[in-house]
Amino acid sequence: VVGMRLVKSVVMVGMMGSGKTAVGTQLARLLSVPFIDSDDAIVSAANRSIAEIFERDGEAFFRQKEAQVIERLLEGPMCVLSTGGGAFMAEGNRRLIAARGVSVWLRADLDLLWQRVRHKSTRPLLHTPTPRATLKQIYDARVPVYALADLAVDAQMDLSIDDMARRVVGA
Ligand code: S3P
Repeated sequence: VVGMRLVKSVVMVGMMGSGKTAVGTQLARLLSVPFIDSDDAIVSAANRSIAEIFERDGEAFFRQKEAQVIERLLEGPMCVLSTGGGAFMAEGNRRLIAARGVSVWLRADLDLLWQRVRHKSTRPLLHTPTPRATLKQIYDARVPVYALADLAVDAQMDLSIDDMARRVVGA
């Protein structure tokens, strides 16, 4: 890692609960670049939570903001950028990410994701009567698209966050 020069930003993609923020934060530390979370940037700009944005303005509005924020952040200095789980689904975002960054998919299985998200109420997409089934539906639709990322790293339970970040660097 020492002496390594980051010429493109690293963009973390993958499902909610896959560990993009945790691994991305550690990765940024290893690479000595800032860590930025696109959801946080949207929340700061809108001055409300993701759940409030979904509720008041709708998902389409959120996706619009998300695309703007990702574009702006990737125009800035090199960083590790963690994106919301849906960001990589938009072709425009994928094109931007490919042009300016290296995409890293944190691949986690459905059971692990469910364990991580089941007790949290911060994910508006899971505010349905059957959140486990909803998560599966989202997962099945997205996995083939996440697979388009430049790199996939398995987010297994037995790997520490640091191990996963080192795998990204070493790959
Ligand atoms: C979403 C994931 C969330 C957030 C929003 C939508 C998604 O981010 O952007 O709730 O479509 O999967 P995380 O993946 O960081 O939870």
